[in-house]
Amino acid sequence: KLKIKEYAMKKLLFLICLNILSFSAIAQSKEALNLVPIPAKIKTLSGEFTLDKNTQIVLSEDNESMRNAVGVFNSLMRRAAGYALKITTDQRSSNTIECRINPSISNPEGYKLIVNKNKVSVEAQTPQGIFYAMQTLRQLLPMQIERPFQSNVEWKVSCVEIEDEPRFRHRGLMLDVCRHFHSKEFVKKFIDMLAYHKMNTFHWHLTDDQGWRIQIKKYPRLTEIGGFRPRSMILVREENGSITRTWENERYGGYYTPEEIKEVIAYAEKRFVNIIPEIEFPGHATAALAAYPELSCSGGPFNVELTYGVFNDIFCTKEKNFEFMENVLSEVIDLFPGKYIHIGGDEAPKVRWKNCAHCQELIKKEGLKDEHELQSYFIKRIEKFVESKGRRIIGWDEILEGGLAPNATVLSWRGEEGGIAAARQGNDVIMAPTSYAYLDYYQANPKTQPPGIGGFVPLWKTYSYEPVPAELTPQQAKHILGMQGNIWTEYIRTTDHVEYMAFPRGAAIAETTWSPKEKKNYENFKARIIEQFKRYDEMNWNYCDAILTEVE
Ligand code: ACM
Ligand code: ZN
Repeated sequence: KLKIKEYAMKKLLFLICLNILSFSAIAQSKEALNLVPIPAKIKTLSGEFTLDKNTQIVLSEDNESMRNAVGVFNSLMRRAAGYALKITTDQRSSNTIECRINPSISNPEGYKLIVNKNKVSVEAQTPQGIFYAMQTLRQLLPMQIERPFQSNVEWKVSCVEIEDEPRFRHRGLMLDVCRHFHSKEFVKKFIDMLAYHKMNTFHWHLTDDQGWRIQIKKYPRLTEIGGFRPRSMILVREENGSITRTWENERYGGYYTPEEIKEVIAYAEKRFVNIIPEIEFPGHATAALAAYPELSCSGGPFNVELTYGVFNDIFCTKEKNFEFMENVLSEVIDLFPGKYIHIGGDEAPKVRWKNCAHCQELIKKEGLKDEHELQSYFIKRIEKFVESKGRRIIGWDEILEGGLAPNATVLSWRGEEGGIAAARQGNDVIMAPTSYAYLDYYQANPKTQPPGIGGFVPLWKTYSYEPVPAELTPQQAKHILGMQGNIWTEYIRTTDHVEYMAFPRGAAIAETTWSPKEKKNYENFKARIIEQFKRYDEMNWNYCDAILTEVE
């Protein structure tokens, strides 16, 4: 009897604790006004500011970049309220959103946002900071701001003071458009999703075994031949729950013309998103080899791959191939304005190089120890070329093998070890370890999910990631530029499915890379992200809502 009483007491105590916990989570999320990512400092004030037809945006300077900083916000107003706010440089005493460049704000992406009853003041060192303040203001407005048609609501914002800045410089997602192709319209939507969460980087994986997706004028066959495959593998869930592979027996593929790419770049620039194009060398090259078999060691012939994995035929290291790579990269560099070009480097088996007269001769001539050193030689030559054009390379962590190129940034995906080694050598690092950052992995009970590649990375796992490994000294830690999520699309065919895999885990990455470490709290994030789902709905963004139903 006593035991039962004790049990009941314990249970009561437990329930009380649980309540206090969830109350404090809710109280905290009120305090944070459901913002994702959570700002560094928030002070809620009493009262409200109301936007109306007469509210004006006052810019401290009028130029294209400042117009971009307020452009997305004002387009939303035009659509959702039926009017855009007047943009001016004339000061007024009230009913304004004042946007002022203030060089004394230390972080180039940081901002201050003060909402008073009679005006909103925004300050930042750069227009990009102003843009992020406007994204915050957007999230503070009623969710109807996201509605694609006019709403009769009062555009009220609670008074608040926010001081905010990102923790990391690199905040982003990678999308593989090779395994499955996605139109420029979808890529723009994806960029919208990044910008909404204050992410600043879109890594565009443009070439792989199953498709070459960027038109190169000098080598038209790369997309004519390499851009298409005769059929395409899909996974289907059978009635009994099992998953089977089957084929869609239609020609599958697509690519972007330079004009389309320019359009996407211009779109991203308006949202302060930098695009990092990835052109894979020397592995994942089958689509290119199908187009130009002479680029291989054996001479081919090859077909664009129909299955997924790691393939033995890679670019040969013969001298003519360096010319090919330089010509391709020249066109890529002419198109993309950003500092970084991703040159791949992952999953390149060395078996063909071992048996190739050209490759073996080069090893001898350069005094290299083995094929790993040959890959290192190869990447270093590409780096030299890319740097001669004023740019920098990023590569997957395999570029450490055989010796790291002097200024390469390492994208650490096979765990953190590559990132740690690179930071210790003084090279920059972006973290994307599979067990936290591979957003192609399942995020909920696989039986309830669209068929996928495997793995298991639920939201809490992604959220729990700390990008700076404890092993690094403060000096080495400065080389951790940030983190990104990777969306490989072997089994992600539709745009709906891409969005579903990307969010809300992408929001967890946004918060991990933006918000102060000490501000991170999963229960609190969860409460805010569940509120954000309503906004995702308004924007017609798909997402995984497993956190609403699954026990974590
Ligand atoms: C990779 O996932 N092969 C970088
Ligand atoms: Zn070779």
